[in-house]
Amino acid sequence: MTISRVVAIDGPAGSGKSTIAKILADRLKWSFLDTGAMYRAVTALALREGIDPLDTAAVAVLAAKSQIETIPSVLINGVDVTVEIRQPEVNHAVSIIAANPQVRAAMVERQREWSQRQPAGTVVEGRDIGTVVFPDAVLKVYLTASPEERARRRGDESAASIQRRDDIDSSRDHSPLRADESAVLIDTTNKEIETVIEEIVACLNLR
Ligand code: DC
Repeated sequence: MTISRVVAIDGPAGSGKSTIAKILADRLKWSFLDTGAMYRAVTALALREGIDPLDTAAVAVLAAKSQIETIPSVLINGVDVTVEIRQPEVNHAVSIIAANPQVRAAMVERQREWSQRQPAGTVVEGRDIGTVVFPDAVLKVYLTASPEERARRRGDESAASIQRRDDIDSSRDHSPLRADESAVLIDTTNKEIETVIEEIVACLNLR
């Protein structure tokens, strides 16, 4: 079995995770995984099938049966939901579905399997990557930014919607959003992307 090296990048919505993780993965020639897109894909499928996000048992069955790909497009059971997963309905329901422990167990298992299959290392971004999914990650990074900056970056999602999502994500019983004690904390407010990348690469070089 290949032992893949993992950089875990966690943080709230709009903290810069996706942008930073993608560029970093490119720079390292490692694979990149957006785990939020997986929870969003399950949410899009539940909404398509008329399943109530609060119906934990039905959503769990759906998640367990679903085939998800995130690159180059987000596909669930072969259906392209790349655009759909960024719509307000999904923004609204995704935190409820991501709080479902059975959905989380199914996603975490896939994330670990995926990482094992990658030829080089992986850069994985989400909310519980350093704390739960890859506790042995070679480097854990926790990104933050001011609420104003995060709302500005999310553009079409309102500050209130982002705040609601962060509140649910941080207060849920299972794998809440939090920085692992060994994570490097980086505040990306008013910071150039390249500066953040350099900070992370410098930390990685010390490992
Ligand atoms: O990163 P994002 O905004 O695309 O994430 C969508 C939602 O999924 C977010 O509300 C939190 C949840 N999520 C999670 O609970 N665990 C992850 N590893 C990734 C995302």
